[in-house]
Amino acid sequence: MTTYISLFLSAIMLFIISFYTFHQRLLVLTRIAVAHLLRPRNLTILLWHWPFGVSYSLGGDVCATEYGIPGCFLSDNASLFHHADAVVFHHHELRTSRSYLPLHLPRPASQRWIWLSLEPPVNNGNLSRYNGLFNWTMTYHRQADVPIPYGKLVPLPPNSSSFMIPKKGDCLVSWVVSNYQPDHERSQVYQGLRKYIPIQVYGRWPRRPLSEQSLLRTIGRCHFYLAFENSVAPDYITEKLWRNAYEAGAVPVVLGPSRADYEALVAPGSFIHVNDFNSTQELAVFLKQLATDRRSYENYFKWRQTHKVKRYTDWRERLCSICVSYYRLPSNKVYYDLDAWAYS
Ligand SMILES: *[C@@H]1O[C@H](CO)[C@@H](O)[C@H](O)[C@H]1NC(C)=O
Ligand SMILES: *[C@@H]1O[C@H](CO)[C@@H](O)[C@H](O)[C@H]1NC(C)=O
Ligand SMILES: *[C@@H]1O[C@H](CO)[C@@H](O)[C@H](O)[C@H]1NC(C)=O
Ligand SMILES: *[C@@H]1O[C@H](CO)[C@@H](O)[C@H](O)[C@H]1NC(C)=O
Ligand SMILES: *[C@@H]1O[C@H](CO)[C@@H](O)[C@H](O)[C@H]1NC(C)=O
Ligand SMILES: *[C@@H]1O[C@H](CO)[C@@H](O)[C@H](O)[C@H]1NC(C)=O
Repeated sequence: MTTYISLFLSAIMLFIISFYTFHQRLLVLTRIAVAHLLRPRNLTILLWHWPFGVSYSLGGDVCATEYGIPGCFLSDNASLFHHADAVVFHHHELRTSRSYLPLHLPRPASQRWIWLSLEPPVNNGNLSRYNGLFNWTMTYHRQADVPIPYGKLVPLPPNSSSFMIPKKGDCLVSWVVSNYQPDHERSQVYQGLRKYIPIQVYGRWPRRPLSEQSLLRTIGRCHFYLAFENSVAPDYITEKLWRNAYEAGAVPVVLGPSRADYEALVAPGSFIHVNDFNSTQELAVFLKQLATDRRSYENYFKWRQTHKVKRYTDWRERLCSICVSYYRLPSNKVYYDLDAWAYS
């Protein structure tokens, strides 16, 4: 009799346990299914050709391991064209006929074509032949679908050591220039300034090239750096500001887009804008005076207490950022007038 009872009890126990584990399993399965539905699928980003022919390794899950962006698969293998969620075309190679758009291939309905350029509009040439082909743009411009500025400010991690202004020698202003053209606006401002103050000029043009190692050290010894863009266009702010001036530790004197464009990226009191002066003489007088006023000069470095410069140099990081933007970007967008967009 007791055996029957214990058998019966065991059966009940077994039933309870199996029901419980079944239930658990069901819960786990549901959770996986929900997570799968909610989690965006992996995106495949195809780079049609490498910018300027310089390739990087795409082995492993680069976006996840290097930049903390999961579910973003980068490839430069053109045979993935039919599966790619987005195809990226760097403009320089199209323009110089080193590469071509795959207009002969059937284009998957949901695939986005991305026009990529870091050049100012005048260097891109006439874009009208690309009208009606691209869905998204990827440039330094804030209004691009995938904005890729040359640099940005990021908050300092807590307890990081404070920035030291490099020791200044008797150098007031420096400028590094390789491509000097007399008709550039920046050349005219330089010629105006040098009548009133000494400017140390380096680079290919004056045949005083600086090595990678000595560049920042040399500029850092000067109070000011002429961060003059070679082309004046909205939002076009390059490594002349981020690297040559900020990273070297010299106060940038900027010539480029409007003050408002700079202030969208950096602290208002961290640079001197050429347009704020009525003449190069006025600017020269201001620089000379500021260099002797230690407290006012040091105020230009105040932002360093809370922020540091992050520059973008690796194309992979920029490509991975497509996946971050992907889901918030409009589908069914087409650039019917790329020139008009680029010059706006
Ligand atoms: C997404 O990519 C990761 C890493 O490559 C891989 O482990 C995972 O299986 C992929 N998921 C899907 C749904 O394809
Ligand atoms: C490109 O992808 C195809 C198809 O997946 C594969 O057969 C081929 O080996 C790949 N090529 C390279 C260079 O990885
Ligand atoms: C580009 O070329 C087209 C046709 O050749 C012309 O109509 C257009 O004005 C040009 N655009 C620019 C910005 O030069
Ligand atoms: C950061 O600084 C705070 C206050 O100065 C200190 O209490 C803390 O231990 C520091 N943390 C690290 C990681 O050094
Ligand atoms: C530029 O000139 C205007 C008008 O003459 C004057 O009000 C302004 O103060 C000048 N700017 C500077 C920076 O001196
Ligand atoms: C992308 O642009 C093309 C025009 O070339 C258009 O036919 C297609 O519908 C667009 N696709 C998406 C997903 O926006």
